[in-house]
Amino acid sequence: MKTIGVVTSGGDAPGMNAAIRAVVRTAYAKGFQVLGFERGWEGLIKNNFRRLDPRSVGGIIRSGGTILLTSRCPEFKTLDGVRKAAANLAADKVDGLVVIGGDGSFRGALALSRETDVLVVGVPATIDNDVYGTEETIGFDTAVNTCVAEVDKIKDTAISHERVFVVEVMGRKRGFLALAVGLTVGAEVILVPEVAYDKNEVFETVKANAAKGKKSGIIVAAEGIGDTRKLAEEIEENTGAEVRLSIVGYAQRGGSPTARSRLLASLFANEAVNLLAQNIGDRVVGLQKGEITSIDLEDSCKNEKPLNLELLNLAKVLAT
Ligand code: ADP
Ligand code: F6P
Repeated sequence: MKTIGVVTSGGDAPGMNAAIRAVVRTAYAKGFQVLGFERGWEGLIKNNFRRLDPRSVGGIIRSGGTILLTSRCPEFKTLDGVRKAAANLAADKVDGLVVIGGDGSFRGALALSRETDVLVVGVPATIDNDVYGTEETIGFDTAVNTCVAEVDKIKDTAISHERVFVVEVMGRKRGFLALAVGLTVGAEVILVPEVAYDKNEVFETVKANAAKGKKSGIIVAAEGIGDTRKLAEEIEENTGAEVRLSIVGYAQRGGSPTARSRLLASLFANEAVNLLAQNIGDRVVGLQKGEITSIDLEDSCKNEKPLNLELLNLAKVLAT
């Protein structure tokens, strides 16, 4: 191993910069040089990269976003795009590539790995926390904390006005973020795409809470459940409660990473470079039962990470 490439791809996540920093510094400690490809897979297709040395990543551990920039790259979903990237990696004499991103980026990494001898290792970073093979992704903890801070503020106004709020959080088609946020703000209802919900049940819960003396309430809904604006209107029509919708939005993808996100980023990146130093590729690093470990890249791409549905039941008990 002489030259390691690093790329951030897909939706950005707080802690991506901490991961870049750790890739660069652990690689240099082993005597490797590092090339940072820009704007996700697009940077590999266009061969846009810059050399990263330990000084060039100074001060970025505390910043959100990614200094390498990121993108969604439709061309990489074509064999032609993947082959262009493989040819550029060969021309640049890259021996190993660290891909910092989510499950989509890892499907790209798998496609690339099939067209190149370059060793490819994934470092999971997405606020959605939906990567199979790791209990937690870089950025998830930061996004949860951002949403919790937001909902705590919403709760103040909900209590003052005796209103029910539907708060929509991100997560694409998955409910990891909504579940963690819902549990930790003490939401009355949590709606996730993994569980089909009955609107009447939501209406009944809101009415029962009002009857118990709970005049305000928080319903945390994952964006993947569908039209939250319509849901908020229907709750108002069917319960007599005054209902508002609040969409947390892109703020939950930015901001300074929490200590937890920085730590995971540093440990994951270190593990990725260790694997490459041992000439091991086709892996996704992760956290399992408190240990830093890795699983096969193809297994990570082909399996769906389960959501712990027991926590939804716990949330119901805690909200009584
Ligand atoms: P994330 O990595 O955050 O899940 P995306 O799902 O948008 O984000 O994936 C990031 C990029 O990975 C896509 O824009 C595309 O370039 C690439 N990608 C996703 N799926 C595939 C695939 N099946 N084959 C090749 N590349 C893919
Ligand atoms: O994957 C991260 C994420 O923030 C999802 O939660 C969300 O659905 C999506 O990205 C939004 O994507 P875009 O930045 O392309 O609008």
